[in-house]
Amino acid sequence: MNEISKLVEQGYNKIAADYYTHRNLNKFNNELEKFISLLSDNAHVLDVGCGAGIPTAKFLVKKGIKVTGIDVSDTMLNLARKNVPNAEFIKMDMNELEFNENTFEGIISVFALFHVPKENHFNIFKKFFEILKPGGILLINTGVSESEGTSRFFGVPMFWSNFSPNTTLNLVNKAGFSIISEAVLERGGEYQYWIYGKKK
Ligand SMILES: C[S@@+](CC[C@H](N)C(=O)[O-])C[C@H]1O[C@@H](n2cnc3c(N)ncnc32)[C@H](O)[C@@H]1O
Repeated sequence: MNEISKLVEQGYNKIAADYYTHRNLNKFNNELEKFISLLSDNAHVLDVGCGAGIPTAKFLVKKGIKVTGIDVSDTMLNLARKNVPNAEFIKMDMNELEFNENTFEGIISVFALFHVPKENHFNIFKKFFEILKPGGILLINTGVSESEGTSRFFGVPMFWSNFSPNTTLNLVNKAGFSIISEAVLERGGEYQYWIYGKKK
């Protein structure tokens, strides 16, 4: 695991409970509904940077979708196992995804990619493409302005990194995805850039 992932891991191990106490868990239900509507029947979805499994994994499992969640934080993963007993949760860094080609019908990574250095984003998008099955659906979000650095978050140092929406769009496209839709959306008072892609 690289130094940035270790910093993020240590940070979330400390703040996991606090973070979820302050989280508005319903703020992106519409985006989750749209993701589900694009999936094929009997889909298996990978939730990357799954956190405590809420809202994403829980929402998907309730709709009968098989979910595997990965995260670098053991504290988050333990909460996820409690919150969503019917999903599978594995400790894994998204920079080092260990899944076979053509494994998943869907990949979702929301409020997580912004903790990974920009220079790694393209390789992660290419890996997402590889491990999705043909026709598979991707949903990601990022921040809305180019930035990279560390700041305090719930009292711990945290790493943040974003390209501009336009650059992220180009990279997702260059990784092989066709774009279903993309937009900057305000949810719960925060702006994020959301992209739905499809493996052709
Ligand atoms: C802001 S939380 C969001 C969690 C969840 N996606 C949600 O929307 O509630 C970010 C999560 O991403 C995880 N994360 C950050 N960097 C990661 C990495 N390189 N690989 C896997 N998970 C990572 C963190 O541990 C944390 O649980």
